Amino acid sequence: MSNFTPVYATMRAIGAYVPPKILSNSDLEKMVDTSDEWILKRTGIKERHIAEADVATSDLAVEASRDAIARAGIEAQDIDLVICATVTPDYFNMPSTSCIISNKLGIRNVQAFDISAACSGFVYGLSIAKAFIESGMKKNVLLIGAEKFSSIVDYTDRSTCILFGDGAGAAIISATTDASEKIIDIHASADGSYSDFLMTPAPGTVNPVTQEVIEQGLQYVKMKGNETFKLAVKTLTKDVKEILAHNGISSDKIDHFVPHQANYRIIKAVGDSLKLKEEQIILTVGKYGNTSAASIPMAINDIYESGRLRYGDLMLLDTFGGGLTWASALLPFAGKN
Ligand code: ACO
Repeated sequence: MSNFTPVYATMRAIGAYVPPKILSNSDLEKMVDTSDEWILKRTGIKERHIAEADVATSDLAVEASRDAIARAGIEAQDIDLVICATVTPDYFNMPSTSCIISNKLGIRNVQAFDISAACSGFVYGLSIAKAFIESGMKKNVLLIGAEKFSSIVDYTDRSTCILFGDGAGAAIISATTDASEKIIDIHASADGSYSDFLMTPAPGTVNPVTQEVIEQGLQYVKMKGNETFKLAVKTLTKDVKEILAHNGISSDKIDHFVPHQANYRIIKAVGDSLKLKEEQIILTVGKYGNTSAASIPMAINDIYESGRLRYGDLMLLDTFGGGLTWASALLPFAGKN
């Protein structure tokens, strides 16, 4: 008889942080040709939080991480891997934002790296954390989604500046031998043929920083909004159905459907396709806008802090972003209340 005890990955704790300054739809009305009514009707967004000039992505991440570490009942020294999902790193080349976060938290001599999958970054990171833990290589992963998205937004472009906000979410993904706590499944995918749907053309090897690049505004996010919208609805509807069918779970068993918070209409279309009730769908887009990789952990933290998220509750995560990338995950929450 073998004594082998399988090890699973579980979400042990969650935390989040938003900078205090709010940019409302009426503020944006004074900056570009738009209206509160248009933004609300087309996106569901009322306001978003914006970090001050001297605040970096790592600062947002550190605040979120402190909460997650404390709620997991561990010390920073117990963490053996730090992953930060972001497309707005402190520095575009090096050092990684994860290294800076680790240093600020006093986590030393452990593996730390960033991943780039735009809005899908947190769920992509979850799949990496799961693989590290289930292979036995790591025990406590600090997984962060953090963005200072305002740093790559052109506040003269009404088609994008109304959408995005700043914030961070962090989770502790730990090893467990209790199968009822395990992350059940993660599906993550990409299609680079749509890379021009959502991109920041500079800085990078295609467009290194030059005066001309800056004058053309290539450092700002560009999006084919309507094309992205249609593809998001189609892809996500298919993806969530597949992950549920693959695991023999019906949608009425989902306690919290936590979608990427890009647009209320995308969330509603996917929720309707699964015949979800309103109380199953988590919506934070109205108050935070689209915070890219931070959006899902921030939404999980919202229901945690409001007391709605209990130990054992089943969550369905689902996201779509630049790349194009998309991902979904099925997992119970295994944190303390
Ligand atoms: N205020 C007023 N009018 C506007 C604004 C604005 N802020 N923005 C665009 N318009 C106008 C357009 O100019 C257009 O006018 P026209 O008909 O005269 O040409 C009209 O509104 C319709 O524009 P669309 O782009 O077709 O509007 P749509 O209904 O598609 O909404 C939106 C735009 C909100 C951007 C939507 O397409 C969307 O949410 N897209 C998906 C975003 C997403 O999911 N991204 C992926 C994740 S993000 C990431 O990975 C970082």
